[in-house]
Amino acid sequence: MSRCTPRCARSLRSSSATRRSTRSSRPQIVGLAQTFIAQGAELLADPGRAGAWTQVDARLLQGIGRMSMGIAGAIRAAAERVPALGDRLAGPAEILDVGTGVGWLAVALARAYTDARVVGIDIFEPALALARANVGAKNLQDRIELRQQNVLCLDPTPVFDVAWLALPFLPAEIVPPALAAVHGSLKPGGWLIAGTFAAAGPDRLSELLMDLRTVRSGGKPWTAADLLPLLDVAGYQDTQPIPRTWAAPVHLFLGRRAG
Ligand SMILES: C[S@@+](CC[C@H](N)C(=O)[O-])C[C@H]1O[C@@H](n2cnc3c(N)ncnc32)[C@H](O)[C@@H]1O
Repeated sequence: MSRCTPRCARSLRSSSATRRSTRSSRPQIVGLAQTFIAQGAELLADPGRAGAWTQVDARLLQGIGRMSMGIAGAIRAAAERVPALGDRLAGPAEILDVGTGVGWLAVALARAYTDARVVGIDIFEPALALARANVGAKNLQDRIELRQQNVLCLDPTPVFDVAWLALPFLPAEIVPPALAAVHGSLKPGGWLIAGTFAAAGPDRLSELLMDLRTVRSGGKPWTAADLLPLLDVAGYQDTQPIPRTWAAPVHLFLGRRAG
C-alpha cells in the first residue's frame, strides 16, 4: 500500500474537518429549509394577516430555532473581528438571549462558549416549553436558564457580559425601550449584539422578500442608517455594523456599554 505523503495527510485532515463541519451544520440547513417552506405555505394560506409572532406550530418553531443556531457562527466571526467582544465571550460570560424561542440558539451559544452561562428570556410559553425539553435533551440545564420574561421588564441590574437581541420579532415601537432595557442589564463594557434578517442577494427582489419575512415576523426591516442612531440614543458606544462573512442569513450590529 502506498504511503500517505504530508500533502495527502493534510488533504485527508481537511476533508474530514469539512465532513465534521457539514455534519454539525445539518440541523441548521434542515431548519432553514423547513422554515422557508412552511413560511411560504403560510403566506399563500393567509397573505393578509397582520405581522406578529404568534406561531404555535411546534415543527415550525423547532425549524426556526435550528436555523437560528447558525447565528452562533456569525457571533464567533464578529468576536474575531472585535477582540474586546471575543475576550468577553471567552471567559465565564453571562450571555442574555432575548427571544430565546425553543432554545436552540441558547444551546449553540453554550456549546460555542464552554465557560459561559446563558439566560434565555421569552414571552411565549409554548416556545419556552419546547426550549425546556431541548435544553434538557442536550443536558445543558445547569448552564442555560430559561425565563418567561418580556425584554422590557429586564431588571436594570448590570449582570450580563453579552446580550443577543433578535430585532425581526420585536414591533418597531418597542425597539427603543428594549435597547434601553438591555443596556441597563449589561455590565460596564458589556456588549449588545442586535440582529436583523439578511437578504439572499443584493438585488431588489431579494431585499423585498427579506422585508416581507421581517414584517410577517412582527418586526421592522431596520437599516444600519436608522438603527445605529437608536443605539447611540440608548447610550451604547462603539456602535458598528459587522461586515457579513458568514452563511447565516443575518446582519449583526454591535454596541458597548461604557466602562
Ligand atoms: C423565533 S424566536 C427566535 C428563535 C430562537 N433563537 C430559537 O432558538 O428558537 C423569537 C422569539 O422572540 C420572542 N419575543 C417577541 N417579543 C418578545 C419580547 N418583548 N420579549 C422577549 N421575547 C420576545 C418571541 O416570542 C419568539 O419566541
